[in-house]
Amino acid sequence: MGFFLTAGFLGMMYYFIPKQAERPVYSYRLSIVHFWALIFTYMWAGPHHLHYTALPDWTQSLGMVFSLILLAPSWGGMINGVMTLSGAWHKLRDDPVLRFLIVSLSFYGMSTFEGPMMSIKTVNALSHYTDWTVGHVHSGALGWVGLVTMGTMYYLIPRLFGQKKMYSVKAIEAHFWIATIGIVIYIAAMWIAGVMQGLMWRSVNADGTLTYTFVESVKATYPFYMLRLLGGLLYLGGMLIMLWNTLKTATNGRSVDVQIPAPAHA
Ligand code: HEM
Ligand code: HEM
Repeated sequence: MGFFLTAGFLGMMYYFIPKQAERPVYSYRLSIVHFWALIFTYMWAGPHHLHYTALPDWTQSLGMVFSLILLAPSWGGMINGVMTLSGAWHKLRDDPVLRFLIVSLSFYGMSTFEGPMMSIKTVNALSHYTDWTVGHVHSGALGWVGLVTMGTMYYLIPRLFGQKKMYSVKAIEAHFWIATIGIVIYIAAMWIAGVMQGLMWRSVNADGTLTYTFVESVKATYPFYMLRLLGGLLYLGGMLIMLWNTLKTATNGRSVDVQIPAPAHA
């Protein structure tokens, strides 16, 4: 997670937020500390994926401690990105590209707060194997990785086709809201479903037998899967708007007749 779904995207964040905001990064020194603290700490946090497995108990506890420590560099980086806007907050009002980038950072902050909480073994006893994990995954994947990538693409695409800006800024605005609402529906549904599953699985009758069968917990989850479908469709819808906007931007340039001079013969 630290290297595949975080490090590269932090690189994008550090480059494109200052570019789009036209401000220098808030603290260059903090970005260096952030990088090394992240690289060092993530290596040790891996066992939080293996709580309550055959992994030795002390290794799980070590993973938990490092996951809690990981909150600090993660939030340091998030604050560094957000504070790059200090003194230029008004830009968020009328620049939807910047909004993609900054809101992606809020999702980063949210999932890197949720992660350390889920790594606490008593919390993980409830969340492990449930859809809570899936909700956590996608607040990172859709909220952080997805939105920061879209913001970056919206910065790059017009430049790639020699345009000043995207064909429709209103469409970027619409994409932003549709995607954000989709993510919120997705992760809220998975949180509720996950906690419900965890509670159903651990519930026992007075005689020690399980209150619910596994199939009952799956059936109870159906409505939340429908909500997730809705959230996913909204997110996909936003991507289709982006595709349309990109095609329009690419074909927006006017063709120009060029006079090719005849080759000069000596
Ligand atoms: C401080 C940062 C973070 C910590 C401490 C953390 C912690 C956790 C924990 C405890 C789990 C549950 C493991 C389980 O019960 O099976 C988990 C799962 C997961 N997290 Fe995070 N998380 C963090 C940030 C992120 C971010 C930013 C992303 C995505 C961009 C992410 C992606 C995932 C994925 C994909 C899984 C599920 C892996 C699987 O079992 O398939 N995490 N994380
Ligand atoms: C419309 C967008 C998306 C939808 C509807 C969606 C839906 C899903 C579903 C249904 C699962 C299976 C969950 C389960 O095991 O029960 C899943 C897993 C996963 N997805 Fe997505 N996904 C989307 C986008 C993404 C993106 C953009 C990323 C990465 C950047 C991503 C990363 C993952 C990962 C890492 C898992 C495995 C999670 C785990 O093992 O707990 N997804 N997704």
